[in-house]
Amino acid sequence: MPRPYNVIFFSYLCTMNTTSIRKDFPVLHQSVNGRPLVYLDNTATTQKPQAVIDRISDYYETINSNAHRGTHTLGRMATEALESARTTVQKFINAKEQHEIIFTKGTTEGINLVAQTFAQQFLNEGDSVLISAMEHHANIVPWQQMCKQKKANLLVIPVLENGELDLSEIDNLLSQNVKILAITHISNVLGTINPIEVLIEKAHKKNIPVLIDAAQSVAHEVIDVQKLDCDFLAFSAHKMYAPMGIGVLYGKSEWLNKLPPYQFGGEMILEVRFEESTFNELPFKFETGTPNVDGILALETAIQYMQKIGLKEIAKYENELLTYATEKLSEIDDIIFHGTSKQKTAVLSFNIKNVHNSDVGAILDQLGIAVRTGNHCAQPLMEILGIPGTVRASFAFYNTKEEIDVFIEGVKTAKKMLM
Ligand code: ALA
Repeated sequence: MPRPYNVIFFSYLCTMNTTSIRKDFPVLHQSVNGRPLVYLDNTATTQKPQAVIDRISDYYETINSNAHRGTHTLGRMATEALESARTTVQKFINAKEQHEIIFTKGTTEGINLVAQTFAQQFLNEGDSVLISAMEHHANIVPWQQMCKQKKANLLVIPVLENGELDLSEIDNLLSQNVKILAITHISNVLGTINPIEVLIEKAHKKNIPVLIDAAQSVAHEVIDVQKLDCDFLAFSAHKMYAPMGIGVLYGKSEWLNKLPPYQFGGEMILEVRFEESTFNELPFKFETGTPNVDGILALETAIQYMQKIGLKEIAKYENELLTYATEKLSEIDDIIFHGTSKQKTAVLSFNIKNVHNSDVGAILDQLGIAVRTGNHCAQPLMEILGIPGTVRASFAFYNTKEEIDVFIEGVKTAKKMLM
C-alpha cells in the first residue's frame, strides 16, 4: 500500500533524536516515484545538512576570493578561512601537524597522489605492493598501473567467505619485498571493519609504510592517525555530509617530504624560471591550482555538525540500525548475505536467490527506496564471491527503524514479483 507523502517518522526507542536531525536535511523531505524517499545509499554519498549548504552560499555571498593569492581583504579572509578549516580537519583526525593535511578532490585523487609519487621514488623492478581482495577500484587500479610501469608485483591479501580478511599468510606476504601496504579500513561492499591497527603494526615491524583508504570509515568511526600510526590516510568529504569534489590526504610529514610533487603549476612552486623551478613546502607542494575553497569550508562545517552529534553516538546508533535491519532481513527466506564479519559497519549487502540485484534495485526505486546495486566498484571481489553484484543498503544517523521497515516490505514485494 502506498504511504501518504506527509508521513511522520516516529522514532522507535533509539539513541538518536532522528526527528530533530532529519529537519536539518532538506533532501530527505521529498517524494520519489510517489512515495516518501527512503535514502539508504549512504555509502555512495551522504546527504548534506542545511548548515553545510548554507556555508557554501555564505562563502559566495560574502568572501569569495582566491585563497593564498590576493592580498586584498577578501583574499586574506578566504585564505584565513581555508587555513582555519585545515586546522579543523587536523584536529578531527588528530594529525600532529597542520601541514600534514593535503586537500584533494577525494579519496581517489589522494590514493593516486601517493601511488604515483611513491612509485616514482621508491618502487623498483621486483618490488611488491600489497593490497587486499576487498579493495574498491580506487585502491587497486592506481597501484596496479604503477606496478606495471615499474615491473613490480601486486600482491593481494585474500578474503574469507564471511567477508573478513584471511590473515593466515600475512607474515609471508609482508616478507615478499613489499614496499607499501595500501588497505581499506572498511569495505564499501561488505561493511567489514578491518583490523588495521594489527596490520599497521605488522607492516611497520618490517619498515613498510601503510596507506589507509578511510573513505568508508571517516564518518562512522573515530579516526586518530597518531594512535593508528598510519603513514597515509585518504578520505572524501561527500561521504561525510559535505560536498562532492573535495577530499583529504593525510600523510606523515616525514613521508610527504620524501615524495616528489604530484602535479605542477601555481602555488606548488617557490620560484619559476624557464630553465628550472623550485617547489613550495608542505602542504602547498601538493596543492596546485585554485583550491576548492567553498568545498573546504563546507567540509569544516560538516565535521562540526558530526562532532555536535558525536562520532561515538553516531557509530552506536548506526550499529543499532544495522542489527535491526539484519534481523528483519534474516526473517525473509532466500536472502543471501554478503559480508557477515563480526566487526561490521552499517552496510548490508545481499541478494535474493536466483534474482538479479539490479531487478531488486529497480523495484525498490519504484517504491521510493534508494539503494545501490551492482559491483560497487569492486569487480575483483565480485569475482571471488562468484556473483555479478549485490543489493546494498547503507545507513546514516538520519535513517530510522521505520525506514528500515519500509525497506524490508520493499524487499518482500520485490521477492514476490521476481521469484
Ligand atoms: N564508492 C562509492 C560506493 O561504494 C561510490 O558506492
